[in-house]
Amino acid sequence: LWTMESFIEQQVQLVRDQVGENQVVCGLSGGIDSCTVAALVHKAIGSQLTCIFVNHGLLRKGEEDDVRRKFAAAFNINLIYVDAVERFVGKLAGVTDPERKRKIIGEEFVRVFEEESLKLTNAKFLAQGTLYPDVIESGTKSAAKIKTHHNVGGLPENMNLKLVEPLRYLFKDEVRAVAEELGLPSDMVWRQPFPGPGLAIRITGEVTMERLHLLRSADWVIIDEIKRAGLYRKVWQSFAVLIPTKSVGVMGDQRTYAYPIVLRAVTSEDAMTAEWARLPYEVLERISSRIVNEVPGVNRVVLDITSKPPATIEWE
Ligand code: XMP
Repeated sequence: LWTMESFIEQQVQLVRDQVGENQVVCGLSGGIDSCTVAALVHKAIGSQLTCIFVNHGLLRKGEEDDVRRKFAAAFNINLIYVDAVERFVGKLAGVTDPERKRKIIGEEFVRVFEEESLKLTNAKFLAQGTLYPDVIESGTKSAAKIKTHHNVGGLPENMNLKLVEPLRYLFKDEVRAVAEELGLPSDMVWRQPFPGPGLAIRITGEVTMERLHLLRSADWVIIDEIKRAGLYRKVWQSFAVLIPTKSVGVMGDQRTYAYPIVLRAVTSEDAMTAEWARLPYEVLERISSRIVNEVPGVNRVVLDITSKPPATIEWE
């Protein structure tokens, strides 16, 4: 039996033994796994660690700020921040196929990360937030590939960096416990899961700056209301999806012609299956009226009442 404290002490020692005097790089995605690895490795080797955070412009509201200010700055971790927003959105212009979006984002991410990490000429190690389920999964090949999953943490193979993976025997709930023990802000620790390709797979059709902006604003309203209702940790995920088809509405005495937002909220144990969340009508009502009032360009809110299977949690 081990406690989180002793786990951390043990891993700190192992990381020190493994890397010695060498430099380590770590890709931060904003998610709990990569931040926990970074905090743990930083505890072990301090300024020998440099983190790289690629902002691909597909994050939720507040996430990049949290990574930079509440995490890296607060923990005094060396951070290279790369603003690659234009670059990613540029690559995604005109792309509507979900798998192509995923592929473009994954490849571009590796490219940007590589460019930046090659500048750290004496880096010998790459710290990654690999968890036990990832270890098991990569040992088995699932027959039917539904979607190409990519983790912003999972990175270049041809870079000649040795891997540092202190979380590889942990499950998600254990990572959260380690994160709390390391003092990560609780809103980062308990943030709902978020896919590597981010908001790009929550816009069906082409991804544009305008649509990203709408979606991010609507998503923020949903999260805010779900939190206010005390439901944030009870649902597995709750988020907005933008369908780029316009419909007619009326506001004041003006006709509107604007996008609908889909509210997607599910309960789940492990994301393999999921039930659509039975949110209280009052919460639905507040989300709906706030989105149409606070997000110009949206005039309708619809609710996704499909479980998984047959639907998936994300729309792409
Ligand atoms: P689906 O949509 O397949 O999603 O029911 C199951 C869970 O996985 C998340 N998801 C991803 N996570 N990279 C990730 O790191 C991805 O490419 C990706 N695609 C889906 C999704 O948010 C849900 O929790």
